[in-house]
Amino acid sequence: MKRVRVETTPHPYDVFVGEGALHARRVNAVVPRGATAFLVSSEPVMRLHGEAVRGVLASSGLDVRGEILLPDGESAKTAREWERMTVAMARAGLDRGSVVVAFGGGTVGDAAGFAAATYMRGLRWIQIPTTLLAMVDSSVGGKTGLNLKAGKNLVGAFHQPRLVLADPRFLATLPSHEFQSGVYEVLKCGLLAGGRLMGLVASTRGLRKASGTQLEAAIAGAVTVKARIVERDERESGDRALLNLGHTLAHALEAATGYRTFTHGEAVGYGIEFAVDLSEETGLASPAAAAAMRKAVRSVGTRTTLDPSLAPKAAGASLSDKKRDGSKTREILLARPGKPVIHGLYAESLARLIRAWIAARERPKRTVKANEPV
Ligand code: GLY
Repeated sequence: MKRVRVETTPHPYDVFVGEGALHARRVNAVVPRGATAFLVSSEPVMRLHGEAVRGVLASSGLDVRGEILLPDGESAKTAREWERMTVAMARAGLDRGSVVVAFGGGTVGDAAGFAAATYMRGLRWIQIPTTLLAMVDSSVGGKTGLNLKAGKNLVGAFHQPRLVLADPRFLATLPSHEFQSGVYEVLKCGLLAGGRLMGLVASTRGLRKASGTQLEAAIAGAVTVKARIVERDERESGDRALLNLGHTLAHALEAATGYRTFTHGEAVGYGIEFAVDLSEETGLASPAAAAAMRKAVRSVGTRTTLDPSLAPKAAGASLSDKKRDGSKTREILLARPGKPVIHGLYAESLARLIRAWIAARERPKRTVKANEPV
């Protein structure tokens, strides 16, 4: 079992990573027996792993007053679902001493965390992530929020959880494309910090087949990288932007395709390649360092092809990314693994670079159907 301490200002908390992380003694270290609780999850997660969470809540002696299942994916993060959650919390009689338990992937965590942040101006909450992406990224750092029609995560709050319990056994039922999606975020942390973590991300297949201990080490390693950055800059006024490595192009691609074509990790993988190419073009990264970093991204596995025709739409979407600060924006570049640099540039320049980079991708080969004349 690995324990990563996150020293945030409202309160520090522990992230436990390992088989058997869901244990009553860890829950009771932050919430006393008898406290009222509210569980937020989704139908597939409860079907597969409901017993595990119900078991730990029962043995922690929490008084679970209610439970809500959110729809899958981004539909969990709507104002309507937020209202449904908070009304159910009120009906269940939750008060300032209650605790919200988020059990699921990143969207469940973001939505439940925002309900916890806003109900009675803030309840304690515990994250029990069930996807690799949620274990290594969204469950740590306290970002919670909702999507509006006008943009993703436009409404939100920084609200740190009291505890994160990440049991890699949940990953056994994760579809391989979702597992791979999380590997790109592990790779992102490896590139930010350099060192041993890079070796653990040899390939998705490698990581999935890895022994429990190696997988545990990769997850805890990524969480540690994130925790140290969040501790320096909890509210993203400086260094936390480093965690956006690969994310400007990723958000643009996701928005341009209605979040349906690429997994988040795949989009981040393309975003990292874009950042590496830019690092080489600006002379920050040597050709050899850039080639090694590109190789690391490509070794994660086969991915959805990036069609060059997406270039104009993605460039347009990058201009409305909320991380833009006036007309200036930031792109995270890399001199080499462990040497990231925050590079300021005009949003319009970045949009032009994104457009040119995507347009230069190879057009996907058309599949010729059997019996089709060629
Ligand atoms: N996912 C990036 C961050 O938490 O800042």
